[in-house]
Amino acid sequence: MTIDVAPTEQAFGAFVRGINFAAPVDVGSIKAVRTAWLDHHVLVFPAQQLENDDLVRFAEYFGPIGEDPYFAPIEGHDRIAAIRRKADEIAPLFAEVWHSDWSFMQVPPAGTCLYGIEIPAQGGDTLFADQHAAWDAMPDEMRGRMSKLVAVHTAKRAYAKDGRYAEDTYKGSMDIRPSDSALETQTHPLIRPHPETGRLGVFGGSYVQDFDGVEVDEAEELKDELREWLARPEFVYRHKWEKGMVVLWDNRCVLHRATGGYEGYDRLLHRLTIADDADYYS
Ligand code: SIN
Repeated sequence: MTIDVAPTEQAFGAFVRGINFAAPVDVGSIKAVRTAWLDHHVLVFPAQQLENDDLVRFAEYFGPIGEDPYFAPIEGHDRIAAIRRKADEIAPLFAEVWHSDWSFMQVPPAGTCLYGIEIPAQGGDTLFADQHAAWDAMPDEMRGRMSKLVAVHTAKRAYAKDGRYAEDTYKGSMDIRPSDSALETQTHPLIRPHPETGRLGVFGGSYVQDFDGVEVDEAEELKDELREWLARPEFVYRHKWEKGMVVLWDNRCVLHRATGGYEGYDRLLHRLTIADDADYYS
């Protein structure tokens, strides 16, 4: 198998061709893909034709399947969640804010993969922002302040029973299960080494509620400053979907968000998170 890794013409990310995940893939090829993943942070595998079990096998090449605390799995498959929106839906878009998946966990997932099943003729791009680049380009004065911060992450605003996806207000077609567990908090250093490569990056995003020991007003200002900085256009890869594409991203150094612009079209992707298990890379 000859694997071709071609960087996108944007800030980061790469297309990977010459590998077919509808059948088992050899260890050497998976090692090559993992190396490309660490180098490029977002990998796009076009033209795959995967059944649900193939998608699970794909994810398990990179780590154990992660927990998805606030989604119900798709019918008939307990490991896969659906990112779904109907053509005539008017509910707020799911995940239209910059985030790193489940960053409120003690050990957040290393990666997430999405598989395109029904792709609208227009819109519905996914945006990714490289958080190593955000750190590398950060001015020294800002670095000095940011590197002292410990961020407090919580799922509260999204997944608490009175959150963005509360049962009595959210009428969209995603199967979201709000819970009181979303009130819990978890701290992570804002600037931290990537667990696998050691490279420094910013670990922030919309699950950050505030910062340890920082007054509310100052925390709000810091969050505004970060919101402006972390997704500057020079750090962003805009992914345009095609049916049959698998996208694998590294939550440890990438923020992402959904976009709209596809009113009148259905959109369906299948999604799995990949736990961060050092046994897979040490
Ligand atoms: C997600 O955040 O997992 C969904 C991204 C998208 O719908 O484009």
